Amino acid sequence: MSSRKRVLLGVLGSGRGSNFAAILSSIVSGRLSASIAVVISDREDAGILGLAREAQIQTVVLRQGRYRTRLDPDIEEELAQYLRRFQVDLVVLAGFLRVLKGPLLTAYPRRILNIHPSLLPAFKGKEAWKQALEAGVVETGCTVHWVEPEVDSGPILGQERVPICPGDTPESLHARIQEAEHRLYPDVIQRVIDRKLWQRIHS
Ligand code: GAR
Repeated sequence: MSSRKRVLLGVLGSGRGSNFAAILSSIVSGRLSASIAVVISDREDAGILGLAREAQIQTVVLRQGRYRTRLDPDIEEELAQYLRRFQVDLVVLAGFLRVLKGPLLTAYPRRILNIHPSLLPAFKGKEAWKQALEAGVVETGCTVHWVEPEVDSGPILGQERVPICPGDTPESLHARIQEAEHRLYPDVIQRVIDRKLWQRIHS
C-alpha cells in the first residue's frame, strides 16, 4: 500500500453529470474522503464535462468508434490507459451509457462501481424508471453495484427505495430516483473506501 492518503476516483459519464456533482459536493464538504483525478466521457457535448472543467478537474473525451452502445476494443484499451495514467484507484460509472466488455474489466477487476436507476435485479437496461412505470409497481429505487461482464448484474453494495406516486411521469419519477442516487452513491463509495473493499494498484 502506498503512502498516498486519498483514494483517486476516475468518473465516467455520458450525460448531465448530476451524480458526479453530488460526489464532488460530498468531497468538498468532507463527507467523502477521496479525490477525483479525471472525468472521462464518450460524448463531447456531455454536461458532466462542463461541470468537471468548472471544478478544474481534468477531462478526457474518448474517440468515437464504430458502435453506439459499447466501445471498440482499442478505445476501451485507451480508456484503461487514461485511468492508469491518472493513477485511478476506483472507477465510478455515473451515467456512462456504454457497456464495458473486456479491457477495462481486466485492467480494473472489482474496482468499477455503477449506479443504476432501479432496485436491481428488477428493470435492468435502459430507462429503468420507464420500465418501472410501465410495470405498474408501487416502488422502485436505485442500486450501486460492482461492474461485472454481465450488464447490471454485479454484486450489490447498496440500494435506496423510492415510492412511485399517483400521476408520476417518467420525468417526475426519474427526478425522485436521482435525489436518492445523489445520497446513495457518495455513501457507498465512502463505505467501499472505509472497508477497504478494493486494493490500490498504483503507488
Ligand atoms: C442516472 O440516473 C443513472 O442512474 C443512469 O443515468 C443517469 C445519469 O444521470 N444510469 C443508467 O441508466 C445506467 N444503466 P447524471 O448524468 O445526471 O448523473
